[in-house]
Amino acid sequence: MMSHPQETATVAFTEAAEAAPGVRYLLHDGELVDYADARLHVLSTTLKYGVGVFEGFRAYWSEDDQQLYAFRVEDHMKRLVESMKVVEIEGPRDTAALTEQLLGLIRANGLRGNLHMRAQVFVDSSDGKPEDTGPSTVFMAAIPMGNYFGTSGLHVQISSWARLSDRSMPPRVKSIANYQNGRLALLEARRNGYDATLLLTENGHVAEGAGYNVFMVRQGRLCTPPVTESILEGITRDSVLHLARTELGIDVDIRPIDRTELYSADEVFVCGSAAEVNHVASVDRTVIGDGTAGETTRHLQRLYRQAVIGRVAADRNWATPVYPG
Ligand SMILES: Cc1ncc(COP(=O)(O)O)c(C=O)c1O
Repeated sequence: MMSHPQETATVAFTEAAEAAPGVRYLLHDGELVDYADARLHVLSTTLKYGVGVFEGFRAYWSEDDQQLYAFRVEDHMKRLVESMKVVEIEGPRDTAALTEQLLGLIRANGLRGNLHMRAQVFVDSSDGKPEDTGPSTVFMAAIPMGNYFGTSGLHVQISSWARLSDRSMPPRVKSIANYQNGRLALLEARRNGYDATLLLTENGHVAEGAGYNVFMVRQGRLCTPPVTESILEGITRDSVLHLARTELGIDVDIRPIDRTELYSADEVFVCGSAAEVNHVASVDRTVIGDGTAGETTRHLQRLYRQAVIGRVAADRNWATPVYPG
């Protein structure tokens, strides 16, 4: 059972953003703990072997509604549970209960502004054997966050690192250890003066970036790689597919994409919970379109911004009000 404190500080977004804390509580195995007390032992299996899974998601404040909406929280919790199953980590499987815990954490902190949330499952066995599957421990956080990328277009480099694969470390799951792959690609891109990176599969097809999926518009068709092309099955990707099909009436081609198709695309954008929908201005210094966000990208950005506060695709119940109405 989660404990609820008697007094909950209301933290305005701007105040809280100064020190990522400003956030008083985190959640540890369903219990509120002070931010400073959310700790993992240095000998835990997670720290030795990177055995752990996590989720990152967002909540959006609506000034009009004076309400905070958490976006697709239970879908993220479902993916968290799937990740635990695939990489064999013991832990909670009740996605509704996990969802309620996270919403309770936001309320306990009294946060009223755009947030990034995390749910992380660590293996906390102190003898640290690689085959340990438990005991696991779950931490959750909700922290104020604005734009991840800024609003101008991204200059993207295709990485010389290949995306890891389902035959080595399944990209389908959000496993902590997978992130070394994207990190190397991102460091390479930054070293070379780019904003972001995209990785190719071992077969040379476009996979995804370090924290985002990718779409392109080419020859009038919106396209994105299939889930069997070494990608995380992004929840934003799924939202964009739905918005394109139902709100814009566009057919989407889900098919392998070659690197050079990006060079000759009319539009390229990346998407993710943190990244949102962000246009790509150039790939390997080849300018995409005229370098600004194309029409389809702009439509999808607008629809996504409305969907996260429940104005669009309301029938999907993606946007959960955090505070009682
Ligand atoms: C490797 C990777 N791909 C794609 C995504 C986008 O996934 P989602 O839209 O579910 O946040 C993320 C972000 O979590 C990611 O880390």
